[in-house]
Amino acid sequence: RQNERESLHIVLNFAKTYFQENLQNTDEGKSIGLSYFRERGFTNPTIDAFDLGYSLDLWDGLLQEATRRGHSRDLLEKAGLILTKENNKVFDRFRGRVMFPIHNVSGRVIAFGARILKADKTQPKYLNSPETPVYHKSQVLYGIFQAKQAIRQEDVCFLTEGYTDVISLHQAGIKNVVASSGTSLTTEQIRLIARFTPNVTILYDGDAAGIKAALRGLDMVLEEGLNLKLLLLPDGEDPDSYVHKVGADTFKEHIQKNSQDFIDFKAKRWLTEAGDDPMKRAEGISDVCASITRIPDHLKRQTLSQRVAQVFHVSEQSVISEINRLLRQQQ
Ligand code: CTP
Ligand code: MN
Ligand code: MN
Ligand code: MN
Ligand code: MN
Repeated sequence: RQNERESLHIVLNFAKTYFQENLQNTDEGKSIGLSYFRERGFTNPTIDAFDLGYSLDLWDGLLQEATRRGHSRDLLEKAGLILTKENNKVFDRFRGRVMFPIHNVSGRVIAFGARILKADKTQPKYLNSPETPVYHKSQVLYGIFQAKQAIRQEDVCFLTEGYTDVISLHQAGIKNVVASSGTSLTTEQIRLIARFTPNVTILYDGDAAGIKAALRGLDMVLEEGLNLKLLLLPDGEDPDSYVHKVGADTFKEHIQKNSQDFIDFKAKRWLTEAGDDPMKRAEGISDVCASITRIPDHLKRQTLSQRVAQVFHVSEQSVISEINRLLRQQQ
């Protein structure tokens, strides 16, 4: 089993290098892949730092080259790099896409994300490697290898949705960034962050899906005992588009000024919706209290009750009793 994992790492690393060579040294790679990255504003050092590549628009470019180098079909399939059709035809999983290798925390390639170049409703925008013995999607954070040192240094981790959010912020000098890659955040991913810092700032896309994902992720981060802030970007922006629009300094300023703790983040939304409808306000208080019950440390819960009372203009005692009621209910 140890041997199989090692073989998988070797063949995945081979594929990474193959995709890099396609990008840098073929006409197709240069004219399609490299110009795509240029259009997105990625510089050469950035392309290097993230090992970005390109898969040629061929049925079996990787399969042929890998076979020539002595990698078995079986191993390529286990690594998620090739597919077998019913008629026993074998072909590359990734074709005609820009390639984003996914590294584990120690920097080894364990999977790929692959983006189509032009919008095409008949195909998913990103294709990702399947689960393999070395790739468990729910345990991985994109960019953790490139970010871990900066996360320690800055003592905070910015959590984004996507590959290009990580890459563009990194290029702008904001290197303490990872992405949950579209999946809903998992406990394993949060524990991975916790190895480097107890502080997380969620920076999800400013659309309905991003807000929903932030609200879902919020309770899970609290449950793991981490300190949480949230920031929603202007509607229609994600960290990648926004940092390109306003530049690194304004982006950092925006984070400084607008990131909210989870109480403000939730309360603002409830207060806006409720106006002076007392039932809605009560519902909001109960919802914020429900998030507080997720926090393991009871002293933190206590302090936060005071904040909830202030924000909703109710007595601290009523907040505490609501929290206790919810805690009893959960038992
Ligand atoms: N994602 C995916 N499969 C899709 C769409 C999205 O795996 N069909 C994941 C990718 O990891 C993607 C993330 O979800 O990076 C966020 O999705 P989205 O915001 O739609 O993409 P962006 O990262 O903004 O990609 P781009 O800027 O290239 O359009
Ligand atoms: Mn495993
Ligand atoms: Mn999105
Ligand atoms: Mn996005
Ligand atoms: Mn984007």
